[in-house]
Amino acid sequence: SGKQRLLVVANRLPVSATKMQNNEWKLEISVGGLVSVLLGLKDFEAKWIGWAGVDVPDKAGQESLTKAMAEKKCIPVFLDKETVNQYYNGYCNKILWPLLHYLGLPQDETYTSESHYDVYKRANLLFAEAVTKHYKEGDIVWCHDYHLMLLPQYLKQYNSKMKVGWFLHTPFPSSEIQRTLPTRSELLKSVLAADIIGFHTYDYARHFVSACNRILGLEGTPEGVEDRGKLTKVATFPIGIDANRFIRTLTLPKVQEYLTNLRERFAERKIILGVDRLDMIKGIPQKILAFEKFLEDNPDWSDKVVLLQIAVPTRTDVPEYQNLRRHVHEIVGRVNGRFGTLSSVPIIYLDRSLDFQALCALYSITDIALVTSLRDGMNLVSYEFVACQASKQGVLILSEFAGAAQSLGAGAILVNPWNITDVSSAIAYTLNMPSEERKMRHKLNFEHVTIHTAQEWATMFVRELNETVVEAQLRT
Ligand code: UDP
Ligand code: G6P
Repeated sequence: SGKQRLLVVANRLPVSATKMQNNEWKLEISVGGLVSVLLGLKDFEAKWIGWAGVDVPDKAGQESLTKAMAEKKCIPVFLDKETVNQYYNGYCNKILWPLLHYLGLPQDETYTSESHYDVYKRANLLFAEAVTKHYKEGDIVWCHDYHLMLLPQYLKQYNSKMKVGWFLHTPFPSSEIQRTLPTRSELLKSVLAADIIGFHTYDYARHFVSACNRILGLEGTPEGVEDRGKLTKVATFPIGIDANRFIRTLTLPKVQEYLTNLRERFAERKIILGVDRLDMIKGIPQKILAFEKFLEDNPDWSDKVVLLQIAVPTRTDVPEYQNLRRHVHEIVGRVNGRFGTLSSVPIIYLDRSLDFQALCALYSITDIALVTSLRDGMNLVSYEFVACQASKQGVLILSEFAGAAQSLGAGAILVNPWNITDVSSAIAYTLNMPSEERKMRHKLNFEHVTIHTAQEWATMFVRELNETVVEAQLRT
């Protein structure tokens, strides 16, 4: 076909494998914003390269999984247990993830030990090997996220003609935060090897350019970052979703059935919905405390409203995530103990993921979506909620610290999640909002999510990458 060939490299593949008894593999769609959006890249001939997500120590198993995944256009990279532990649990999720979200470096010795970083390098090399094995001339190689910051450099060292882009799905913090990272310079230099670097918002791009300036002494231009005549383009590409996939799904009989059941079950109550991976950046404790405050201040509402919180298990081998789970359970228990009655509780809390159709039904039946991220690259849950609200026209309460606040700010009620009183009053205000205002707010956001889609995002990034390469050739 005439479609542009794309190698999409991300730590997490869009499908996750589990081994069945007869040595066969069950493949399921993975959870997370990056995966949801990359599923929408229909306009390219794309192949995916990423971590298999399971430990497959034997060659035979690796071969059979590679074969099963090939049908889904996925190419698995196999990482052994120790590598996963030091690269994924350690360097990515204990060090880089909190740092990029302004939570700082861990207080214990883990960040000074070099071994995590050494293994991070090794893992990035394994991804580079997989790319070079499948690369054909003319392919675009699109690297994603903080797991693969060394990849652009490794790829360019192997073949300086390769078209390489890197996109960060998280915030890029102030240079004052990036400065504390022992490997601050190497990581910046490596991503600068790419032809183009993309971020969700203008602020993240600006922070990145200023980090290159302050830490590496490189000059920032309106176009990007310049190093001895070589320009690395830096630009903003706010991501979107495949809104029609959600709208279509709502019409399925199965979803209609879910909706009928939910309507019956919650007939007497307004629904406030939270959908988050159980991650410290999502501000789940803050959200529950704000809801508790709301119940305290508005006793008339206590049996007329319910908070449904879906807390999707994530990175469960990292101790910080285990602690968060305990902490959240404790406060959910306290609030339900305090405000529950024999017939109902104010918070329904689930430690699990939902299948796509159930999720769409929930989005659609909800009166208020409550997103309280302390920091969040974009936050697609807020987009997905809006896409499913054509008939109900409910309200989005959205943290001003989510990237989505830049795009859905006009229609959403923006809050500072650290301010419990602010969030609690936003809930009260929203529950009493006149329908005219709700409609007007919904309309603004619905237009945004249906126009600025994942397809548009990918097309723009790839077009810019192609143009950047052409411009660079003209300059030399
Ligand atoms: N999600 C899912 N199953 C669930 C709950 C959520 O697949 O049970 C998806 C959701 O549809 C969304 C993604 O997980 O696309 C979360 O993306 P977001 O950008 O909000 O946050 P991230 O998890 O990437 O930090
Ligand atoms: C965020 C990251 C993604 C990641 C996702 C789920 O969206 O930006 O790179 O895939 O969270 O996390 P996980 O660790 O399960 O891949």
